[in-house]
Amino acid sequence: MSDSVSLADITDFAESLAHEAGELIRLEREQNTLRTDYKKQTELVTHADVMADEFITGAIRQRFPGHRILSEETMPDLSQAENLDTPLWIVDPIDGTVNYAYGHPAVAVSIAYAEKGRVQAGVVHAPFPGETFRATRGEGATLNGEVIKHSGATVPRESLFATGFPYTKDNLEPLVSRLDAMIHQCRDLRRIGSAALDICWVACGRLDIYYENVSPWDFAAARLIALEAGATAGHFGEVPEGYPADLWGRDILISAPAIWEPIRSILRSASGYK
Ligand code: IPD
Ligand code: CA
Ligand code: CA
Ligand code: CA
Repeated sequence: MSDSVSLADITDFAESLAHEAGELIRLEREQNTLRTDYKKQTELVTHADVMADEFITGAIRQRFPGHRILSEETMPDLSQAENLDTPLWIVDPIDGTVNYAYGHPAVAVSIAYAEKGRVQAGVVHAPFPGETFRATRGEGATLNGEVIKHSGATVPRESLFATGFPYTKDNLEPLVSRLDAMIHQCRDLRRIGSAALDICWVACGRLDIYYENVSPWDFAAARLIALEAGATAGHFGEVPEGYPADLWGRDILISAPAIWEPIRSILRSASGYK
């Protein structure tokens, strides 16, 4: 912990930033001043993504000048995740940019705080429905102040899963093969369009399973929220040796505990992993 600031203070600070950024992006869409651009191929970025990123990272720098930041729009240097020296903030100013640009409600601000590669605090705030998920390590997880828990699903066939697809469509084959296996062996699929909300929805039982390949800012905060809600979080592929698992975004699998192993086997065999 830094400068004798408690983890509860850190979580409060993250929550206040997420609320302020959420208000900013909500107003920006309401006032219809949305300007969109392309980052690569089909990946959109709006003026609000950059504004919210600058707001959050500026406030963190001001309050904790010695901390490092990894943020999708203004500081996306992924090598930061491997540096364990000083505390790291991991920020996604808008998770669900495509939803945001199309007027859909599944949009979230995600802010995580990690020490030595372990996420200690996480906040995911969805400004349109007005829902805030929050967790501090060891303290449980809440949604708008109420304690949350995973669904308790026990059978893949009776489980609802969410996943997503990358903006770059270079190698879709393994994704299609996983999807085929999962659709046949689970109840149904939801493609919500915000990885952070997918995971928070596993945390509160609106979904049973989430898997995908994403970046640290998409899942770092939500993964802690899911763990603190009693869900199981891990990977169906390998995490490179020495890499902090809390921040490794490939082959993530988060689910109700009883179905984690069976789903891992389904995804491994569909991926051709030995
Ligand atoms: C995206 C969303 C989406 C996931 C993509 C992410 P963005 O984040 O989380 O659900 O499928 O892989 O990149 O670009 O909207 O912040
Ligand atoms: Ca993006
Ligand atoms: Ca994202
Ligand atoms: Ca984003």
